[in-house]
Amino acid sequence: MADPKEEPPTDSEDESEGEDVVPFVPAAYLGRGPRSSVSAEAYGDWNKKIEFVPTVYAKSGEQTARIRGVLERCFLFNTLDEGDVAILIGAMVEVRAEPGQRLIREGEDGDAMFLIEQGVFDCLKVLDGQETVLKRCEAGDFFGELALLYNCPRAASVEARSPALLWQLDRRTFNHIVRDASVKKREMYEEFLNNPLFQTLGSYERLMLADSLRKQSVTAGSVVISQGDPGQNFYLVEDGTLVAQKDGQPVMTYSRGMYFGELALLESGDHVRHASVIAQTDSRLLWIDRRTFSQLLGSLEEVMRAKAAEYA
Ligand code: CMP
Ligand code: CMP
Repeated sequence: MADPKEEPPTDSEDESEGEDVVPFVPAAYLGRGPRSSVSAEAYGDWNKKIEFVPTVYAKSGEQTARIRGVLERCFLFNTLDEGDVAILIGAMVEVRAEPGQRLIREGEDGDAMFLIEQGVFDCLKVLDGQETVLKRCEAGDFFGELALLYNCPRAASVEARSPALLWQLDRRTFNHIVRDASVKKREMYEEFLNNPLFQTLGSYERLMLADSLRKQSVTAGSVVISQGDPGQNFYLVEDGTLVAQKDGQPVMTYSRGMYFGELALLESGDHVRHASVIAQTDSRLLWIDRRTFSQLLGSLEEVMRAKAAEYA
């Protein structure tokens, strides 16, 4: 892939990462402790990528196309290269579920995660003695990744609300392909996502947001957003200085931790950009696409609208 730093910036570029990482467990999950049966594997696998032999379950062309469709919608997987995608497709197993069926039970050990092709699921947790819905998942969402990422018991139960079609991915393949990058992102952006804007998100949503962030480097003078264009992405500034200009006049300066590009996405219809945003210095941005924005940041809509009302 060409170095994104050299390419003209647009609303849709990314730069994924893939260096080695040190595993960490977020504070929220520390209390639960590792699974005793697999604790050696949790950290041992880290250095054993070279020994990985992919599991392959034969699939029809139609099944492969359906898995690709689901992977494309699922941000945990959408920065993978073609080789990794092929390994994931080979390892996936098609699963059906009926309404009321529990695929995951809180507190149990887990060896697989699931991607939803069709159907609706509730993630349920016992809070103060009462089982409470934490989150509803639908097509394009995934669940069951936490036990694999952090080697912990299942944090919640997951139950089908409708007839459902899913793809199951085993722990070994998930760890080999996805875990390093995901854990690294969650660690790297945890502090960044402590930004006041994200305070009303739950800790789980913040981790999901970290997973979904993609990087874009822009050079001084680059136009990241053009007023009047349709908008696809929401941006956070990781480093650098950028300026918003409306009708050619500067209206806002951005630095680390600030965001822009929310207005077009908050609107229904054409999603037209209300201002241009131009890098004043070489800058590093993090971005998410419109679907992820509404999925993860939908609950912040009111806060963002209130802030936007203060724009000049
Ligand atoms: P896991 O712990 O493996 O199994 C239960 C799943 O519920 C968990 O992974 C997540 O995928 C999902 N889940 C959804 N919302 C939450 C939440 N708020 N906290 C923890 N797990 C959640
Ligand atoms: P959006 O319209 O998606 O793209 C341009 C962005 O510039 C806009 O979202 C806001 O995030 C930001 N912006 C900053 N100041 C203003 C302003 N005065 N009017 C409109 N947009 C502004």
